[in-house]
Amino acid sequence: MSIKNSAPMRNTQILSVGAFRPARVVPNSELVERIDSSDEWIQQRTGIATRHWAGADESLADMAVEASKIAIKRAGLTAADIDTVIFATITYPYQTPSASTEVALRLGIENSAAFDINAACAGFCYSVGVASDMVRSGTSTYALVIGAEKISDFLDLDDRATSFIFADGAGAVVIGPSDHVGIGKTMMGSDVSNREAISMVPSWLDYKPGANLAQTSWPVIHQEGQKVFRWAVYEIAKVGKEIIADSGLTPDEIAAFIPHQANERIIDSLAKSMELPESVAIARDIRTTGNTSAASVPLAMDALLAERPELHGKNALLLGFGAGLVYAGQVVELPPVPKK
Ligand code: UT7
Repeated sequence: MSIKNSAPMRNTQILSVGAFRPARVVPNSELVERIDSSDEWIQQRTGIATRHWAGADESLADMAVEASKIAIKRAGLTAADIDTVIFATITYPYQTPSASTEVALRLGIENSAAFDINAACAGFCYSVGVASDMVRSGTSTYALVIGAEKISDFLDLDDRATSFIFADGAGAVVIGPSDHVGIGKTMMGSDVSNREAISMVPSWLDYKPGANLAQTSWPVIHQEGQKVFRWAVYEIAKVGKEIIADSGLTPDEIAAFIPHQANERIIDSLAKSMELPESVAIARDIRTTGNTSAASVPLAMDALLAERPELHGKNALLLGFGAGLVYAGQVVELPPVPKK
């Protein structure tokens, strides 16, 4: 007897996007003294002018819940319709239970699949790929995909390579069935030989068997800026080109490019190397949002659609890359004009 699979394969699309940015805006001027830097240097080298940091009483889950509520409402759905919650993050402070279960509980989503994905700044694009494949194969019907971070809890404010880069926020999308291809194949990959180029320090890698974990210090994010910069500029551009080619579209059929917001110079370099035409709208949310790791692509998507509403329903290249080193991306149709 062969196994019967009751679920037919179907197409998928992003139905909506929601975003939450904490109220507190942190200008470069607030950070420069401790790292012997300047507003001018930070803006020139990264594009960042301001970023949002959550308050002490504002948790990662609080931000994720707010972004999710918006995304579910804009999809014209209710919590009862969601059967999968995927939460991409590297800053949920508990190993288990997962952040996705906290959000599901607080939103009143019952009996859903619920799990977290740790793929750092590529986490949202990984999660879109997983959710789309789940809906495509019939495992799920409506999947809530969240990318959220409270990185300010894991920053060393004296570190010249990170303190001014990272920031907080949450973005969410709902992925559901479609009568056409709204999400292309996701390309996922890694360069694990460089896995320590970005990491939380101290990390589990530092602990020898028998070490007293109770004596360890709170981890902070560390990165070898130049190494990551070079990898992003050379390797990720090739990935982007491959994703576009695989989607069957030509670069001029892509309306928007929404990369991980790591550094505006990386964004510019990727767009140039991929030979994206002038007509392609490029997300530059980094200027006022900083680098929010897993939250950066959905936050940038939301900001771009608010700024350029004509892009609703148009094709966009999403591209995430970061700690691991890992990457993922896909061509998607941007969500339609919200139902509510
Ligand atoms: O989200 C995950 C993926 N992350 C990334 O993609 C991050 C990629 N990396 C970067 O964005 C950049 O490497 C940084 C923004 C972190 C650093 O910029 P950079 O242009 O690579 O700086 P650098 O380390 O090459 O340093 C250049 C100069 C040096 O001075 P000299 O030797 O040329 O006189 C540094 O001492 O800039 C100096 N410098 C700074 N000056 C002011 C380094 N950091 C700072 C700073 N403020 N914060």
